[in-house]
Amino acid sequence: MAGLRLTPEDSELPQANRPAVASSDLISDDDRSIAADSWSIKSEYGSTLDDDQRHADAQDAADAFLSSGNFRTAASDYSSDKEEPDSDGVGSLLGLQSYWDAAYADELANFREHGHAGEVWFGGDVMETLVSWTKNLCIELSQGHLPTDLNDIKIDPEGDKFLPAWSVLDLGTGNGLLLHELAKHGFSDLTGVDYSEGAIDLAQGLANRDGFPNIKFLVDDVLETKLDQQFKLVMDKGTLDAIGLHPDGTVKRIMYWDSVSKLLAPGGLLVITSCNSTKDELVQEVDDYNQRGAGSFLEGEVPKDPEAARNPIFRYVNHVRTYPTFTFGGSTGSRVATVAFLHN
Ligand SMILES: C[S@@+](CC[C@H](N)C(=O)[O-])C[C@H]1O[C@@H](n2cnc3c(N)ncnc32)[C@H](O)[C@@H]1O
Repeated sequence: MAGLRLTPEDSELPQANRPAVASSDLISDDDRSIAADSWSIKSEYGSTLDDDQRHADAQDAADAFLSSGNFRTAASDYSSDKEEPDSDGVGSLLGLQSYWDAAYADELANFREHGHAGEVWFGGDVMETLVSWTKNLCIELSQGHLPTDLNDIKIDPEGDKFLPAWSVLDLGTGNGLLLHELAKHGFSDLTGVDYSEGAIDLAQGLANRDGFPNIKFLVDDVLETKLDQQFKLVMDKGTLDAIGLHPDGTVKRIMYWDSVSKLLAPGGLLVITSCNSTKDELVQEVDDYNQRGAGSFLEGEVPKDPEAARNPIFRYVNHVRTYPTFTFGGSTGSRVATVAFLHN
């Protein structure tokens, strides 16, 4: 698959070599398909798009891009322009809201005409593993345990009784299918947000159709959130990846951690799933954020909270170890990393 990167579980490879697609001023359907395919691992629930052509285009684009040596980089200076790729063409269309608005306009039309649900980012197997792993982690935490390896733990069969107390927020929910899966596993206080109105219309339509009318969906930009509520469980599947692909990705990622620290209740859990960062890279990013202290933006800035290192904002808890792995070029890895952090 074009643009696939290795994500070794424990001795992670650095992620500098992620290919991305050069940005252009106009975002055509082809551009969107190429950008998505060159970045992501996804499966679709019955899209009517011409898949063969799309994948062929994506492969060509990614091959050309890889051979040009033009890999993903993150700009370091923040700009308030939310819509324009930077003039060097670094970053990716997937970091722009206009990309997602256009993508969800298509998906919404597809849903209304054909009943299709759209993308399952990273595929159905990852979603299933992620949800049952998260459920087990929540049950363990509810019982006062801090598990280091969920695979070795015998989960209390009565544990489902703890799940209604876990208020859940899904950041960048897209079509909201992750929330359906969490509902099927016993979670009941469920909210999804996305900055794209089309995503929220699609998610609401699917939830009504598929028997999940109690899931709440709201238009909200994670980086400038209007939510004044805190949640016990915050889920992110592919959203920090997308945010990091904005031309100002470096700064936007720091804004992301600031927002999550406000949205997550003390003692709450963040479960983040990424194909663009390894487990070690996510842990490092959180360590860096803890060191800097919340709200510190600029490189070299002195931490606002001198206690930050001793009293970290987020603490690594666990990560999924059971995603399928494959070997390529002598390295073994999995395509996706899921890591859980506790909010102090
Ligand atoms: C790769 S998709 C993943 C969608 C969904 N989480 C899933 O797993 O199917 C990334 C999503 O993040 C949303 N997104 C990106 N940046 C966002 C932001 N700043 N605020 C809210 N949503 C955002 C996009 O609209 C898109 O739905």
